[in-house]
Amino acid sequence: MPPIRVAPSILSADFTRMADELASLEAAGADVVHVDVMDGHFVPNLTFGPPIIEQLRKRTKLPFDVHLMIENADRWVRAYRDAGADWISVHVEAVPHLHRVLQAIAESGAKPGVAINPGTSLALIDEALPWCHHVLLMSVNPGFGGQKFIPESTEKARRLSEMIRARGLATVIEMDGGLAPSTVRDPVVAGVSVVVAGSAVLGAPDRAAAISALRDACR
Ligand code: DX5
Ligand code: ZN
Repeated sequence: MPPIRVAPSILSADFTRMADELASLEAAGADVVHVDVMDGHFVPNLTFGPPIIEQLRKRTKLPFDVHLMIENADRWVRAYRDAGADWISVHVEAVPHLHRVLQAIAESGAKPGVAINPGTSLALIDEALPWCHHVLLMSVNPGFGGQKFIPESTEKARRLSEMIRARGLATVIEMDGGLAPSTVRDPVVAGVSVVVAGSAVLGAPDRAAAISALRDACR
């Protein structure tokens, strides 16, 4: 299997010590920093906005993968890009004009992606795949860290891989939610190459060991 990229989610970080948390993830071998943006409307929780991301951006060289769990994402693309987002994902369930917002992300210079909830059909994103650098497949319902992996997500990743292959694309499949050494292997075999992990990495006493354990589980 090709090597995975590990994207720890700072939703599980100690918010009073963010600079140290980013340094610790970089030292532990993270590839990407996953930033969960929640608006209290699309999901029942609130997290970071552009001013905080702009400050965090100065503290690490790792790419920022910004997962927008917000309504009206089209109005916010520029602000998150200016704050330092390298990848920007919008939820298909929250965006009526998917082509327009994916184009706006690409024009901003960030890598566009579409996020999709466990209960949403892949048919809703099939048409948009050519405009996506990545698809963020949710393997829990978004809003909180530390939830249990939904096992049907593996089969969904397999079907998405087939859709991407059928279109002759190289779209990256990222999975988010409940991923740990015990759950990560099957989705990776099915085509996931970017692994988001919140509690499994940030909740571990040794983060380098936690990231290695995720990689080892996929060899
Ligand atoms: C959930 C977030 C996830 C979450 C993952 O809404 O999108 O990124 O932080 O956390 P774990 O890995 O603990 O499920
Ligand atoms: Zn996320």
